[in-house]
Amino acid sequence: MMKISVKFGLWFFFCILVIEVFSMGFLHNNLVHSQVDREIHALQARGNSHRAVLEISADPSTLHHIGLMESHTDTEVVITDTKGNVLVSSGNMNSNIQAVLKKSIPNLPRNGSIIEDDWQKEPYIATLTAYNSHGKKAGYVYMFKNTVEVQKLITQLNKHFLLASLLILFFILITIFFLSKVLTKPLISMTDATKKLSKGDFSVTLPTPSRDELGELSLSIQTLATDLNHLKKERNEFLASVSHELRTPLTYISGYADIASRQGLDVKDRVQYLNIIQEESQRVSQLLKELFDLAKLDQNAFSIIKEKVELCTFLKSVHDKVLPAFNNKGNRLFVDCPKSLSVEIDPVRFEQVILNLLDNSLKYSKEGTKTFITVLKENQTIQLNIQDQGVGIPQEDLPYIFDRLYRVEKSRSRTTGGFGLGLAIVKQLVEAHGGEITVESKVGLGTCFIITLRK
Ligand SMILES: Nc1ncnc2c1ncn2[C@@H]1O[C@H](COP(=O)(O)OP(=O)(O)OP(=O)(O)O)[C@@H](O)[C@H]1O
Ligand SMILES: [Mg+2]
Repeated sequence: MMKISVKFGLWFFFCILVIEVFSMGFLHNNLVHSQVDREIHALQARGNSHRAVLEISADPSTLHHIGLMESHTDTEVVITDTKGNVLVSSGNMNSNIQAVLKKSIPNLPRNGSIIEDDWQKEPYIATLTAYNSHGKKAGYVYMFKNTVEVQKLITQLNKHFLLASLLILFFILITIFFLSKVLTKPLISMTDATKKLSKGDFSVTLPTPSRDELGELSLSIQTLATDLNHLKKERNEFLASVSHELRTPLTYISGYADIASRQGLDVKDRVQYLNIIQEESQRVSQLLKELFDLAKLDQNAFSIIKEKVELCTFLKSVHDKVLPAFNNKGNRLFVDCPKSLSVEIDPVRFEQVILNLLDNSLKYSKEGTKTFITVLKENQTIQLNIQDQGVGIPQEDLPYIFDRLYRVEKSRSRTTGGFGLGLAIVKQLVEAHGGEITVESKVGLGTCFIITLRK
């Protein structure tokens, strides 16, 4: 697998390289052109100034003088008459110069013209100017410049360019190296973190995230890790509670089975022991049933089938169902609900919710107290309160009472027979309805469960 920093670096390098090559090439080309142009025009200007002198006086001493002047520069001059006979030349007339002289002469403008500008292939660049004497064409001024000079100049330029390019490349490489490290570092640490996560190690800590997309990703991974860690802890605690919950009745069962199987036991005692065994096994199967229900809720294996239900009628029927139990204990139950209020709920599941909450109210209240079901209609929501005057829940237990197998008083609930699963189921069901459940409680005064349903 190619590392992302390498990949990023290569791409970046490639792009910059293309840009550099193009811009350097363009610049180089322009510079060379203007340099050669300047040389040629200087040559032409020189030829023109000789012409100016010749047009004032074209006697042999002037000619000689011009030749002498040019023999001390890096340019050459050849002056001919109109027939092509050489009047004067500043250097030796080599074959290259003669080849130029033999060319046919084009129609010349006043300022002369360039007759050779191929500095790359030809040994000389050359210009040609005509000069007059007494108003008539009297001859030509050829100017030559050895292209070796020009080429040397260009080579010099190329060297500078090469050096500059290498320097730029070097700095680009360094920049890319650090940039790719800086940019990919968070990615790499996130990859490491997710690898750790998938191996079941949830103790990842990522460096403080930056305020960009990468930072957001890093934050989500961190949250995921924390959540997973929490889940893992919860699962372990849950399993511990379940096994504890199962062990207690099983200890009773095996203990009493042992005693009941003894010889010479009173029939009355034996029946009592067998009853205990039966009670305890019922408890176990009840626990397993509730756990199974919860597991189904977790997987969303059940579906909420909502229908329009008239809330008051619905609550009244639940009220009638539980009234005998309340009467038995000498408690009272009241329902207060605005008329003709319909809601979208799954009546079977929602009844389970109310029954569980009322079961708690009854279980955790003293005899002769009251429980109230009140419905409040708000703008967007419907609020359902179930308020009792029971023992209440201590403040420190409130955050946990919706957890599975959580009970405020472990010893008391063994006698009242709860598992601590009721509220976990209630919460799941309410949330499956798209609602919310919260609780308020004061020890000794009572508890209020508040269900909020969206209309
Ligand atoms: N109305 C209430 N008043 C006082 N305490 C309550 C009330 N409702 C719940 N609790 C406390 O919250 C705990 C969790 O309630 P939950 O209904 O989940 O379990 P449970 O009633 O003990 O058992 P289960 O409902 O599974 O039979 C209870 O054990 C009890 O301590
Ligand atoms: Mg309960």
